[in-house]
Amino acid sequence: MYSEKVMDHFENPRNVGTIENPDGYGKVGSPTCGDVMEIFLKIEEETIVDVKFRTFGCASAIATSSMSTEMIMGKKVEEALALTNKAVAQALDGLPPAKMHCSVLAEEAIKEAIENYLEKKNS
Ligand code: FES
Repeated sequence: MYSEKVMDHFENPRNVGTIENPDGYGKVGSPTCGDVMEIFLKIEEETIVDVKFRTFGCASAIATSSMSTEMIMGKKVEEALALTNKAVAQALDGLPPAKMHCSVLAEEAIKEAIENYLEKKNS
């Protein structure tokens, strides 16, 4: 049911943890299942130099968060904003259709963390 990549990122998630005094922080809950995801960003000169995540979520949520943190690491803020849950699911060789909503959590938490960064920067 799950691809090898999903299993790998679920069993060995990358970038789990928190960042103290993050430049950007996002927390979202899934209306579908009630699971929660947090993203912490460290940003220097508009580039994401560190990212960590923490989630109370299912295997798909953990795998998509792990993959999406790898996909935005070292990227410019605007590139990271353009990341979609579909691109993350594709990078994991697909998710079961019933689990696509889990991948939305990572996309939304990243967007919220970047918006938080932009708000702080512009205030
Ligand atoms: Fe809740 Fe997957 S079932 S995030």
